[in-house]
Amino acid sequence: MDKTEKAQPPLNDSGPDIPNLLLLKDRALDIAAEGITIADMRSPDQPLIYINEGFERLTGYSASAMLGKNCRFLQGGETDPETVEQIRVALATGRECTVEILNHKNDGEPFWNRLSLTPVRDSSGVVTHFIGVQSDITNRKNVEEALREANQQLEEANRRMVSNLEAAARIQRSLLPEELQIFEGISFSSVVQPCDELGGDALNVVPLAGNCYAVYAVDVSGHGVRASLLSVTLSHWFSRVLSGPKGKGFEFTPVEVAEELNRQFKMDSDNVQYFTMCFGIVDVDEGKFSYVTAGAPPVIVVRGNSESEVLEIEGFPVGLVEVAGYTETVVDLSPSDRVFLYTDGVIEAEDHAEVGYGTDRLAAALLKQGSLDLGDTVDAVLRDVSSWEATEGHRDDVSMLAFELS
Ligand SMILES: Cc1cc2nc3c(=O)[nH]c(=O)nc-3n(C[C@H](O)[C@H](O)[C@H](O)COP(=O)(O)O)c2cc1C
Repeated sequence: MDKTEKAQPPLNDSGPDIPNLLLLKDRALDIAAEGITIADMRSPDQPLIYINEGFERLTGYSASAMLGKNCRFLQGGETDPETVEQIRVALATGRECTVEILNHKNDGEPFWNRLSLTPVRDSSGVVTHFIGVQSDITNRKNVEEALREANQQLEEANRRMVSNLEAAARIQRSLLPEELQIFEGISFSSVVQPCDELGGDALNVVPLAGNCYAVYAVDVSGHGVRASLLSVTLSHWFSRVLSGPKGKGFEFTPVEVAEELNRQFKMDSDNVQYFTMCFGIVDVDEGKFSYVTAGAPPVIVVRGNSESEVLEIEGFPVGLVEVAGYTETVVDLSPSDRVFLYTDGVIEAEDHAEVGYGTDRLAAALLKQGSLDLGDTVDAVLRDVSSWEATEGHRDDVSMLAFELS
């Protein structure tokens, strides 16, 4: 027998007579893990007239110290007064109630007590006693508290992350060109629709000397912060390089630009990103567009609103291989010809049957919407891509840069 167990009087084994049954009930009450208490509601201050051994184990108080007293002495300064008021009202109105209340053991240690109070009435319906059942729920409360704190920290971290992402997205947007830019002899239209807060696509138009314009559309592999950091770096790289050395104009060919980027943004164990790119220079006076593609989808030319041409693609994405062997393509342009650069999010947008929008459908759509202003054509076609796409919002960044000679 456990030292803490009280010696029990032997049961009479001759059958379930009344005294035996009472002893059995007594034992059952004492074995229970919960505390069980009875208070006399007719005596002043509602003293305890019964406590079981479970209550003694739970609180560390002995029956002799507790009997005859009101149970409120388990409460302390940190006990919630509203919970005590709840008990008070239940006792005064003779109703059941269950509360979770902070109590203290005999040694002062606090514990969370799940207290259920049930009235007992006499034959005339008057409440004569209340039965209290006490359970120690400290562990559950601690776990709940730890969870609440962890949730709070997570929410705070999430708030910080969202506000950082929003700030980063604002910076990224500030690097994009205006949607519509009209210069002498040429107009440009561009749209970038990132699939997350931050995108890996970057595009721009940079006026050069001699009525020439550099254009690029870049798509960094992956999405999110990492892709966006490289796309922002590339935007800065282009604006620095395209501004040319002091006093001189931009003197590099598209192939030289692609090769330089391939040297500077080589993929290695630290930098596991690469990017596709279309970079070119439009010479408005000469009516020529010289460009290089590096893993980017094919440039589409719509000629005089009567036919569309999907140009050849060549070249590895930038950073993938040491010697990419880029080649330059030169396209002759006449007034009202339109040229479209875009990222693969446009043609890889998939419908419910996982069929991609595709280059041919894009070329046809650009031709079909060719009678609209350049900006409206781009908007109409990107709307068509969105309605083709099965998912709500894009699964990849979708960007397009177009220009038209006038
Ligand atoms: C049977 C019974 C058991 C009770 N057990 C507890 C208890 O374990 N812990 C506690 O804080 N209050 C307990 N109370 C409540 C207090 O005894 C008291 O009723 C409460 O503090 C409200 O009354 P007061 O405003 O006079 O203090 C119990 C009440 C009854 C009737």
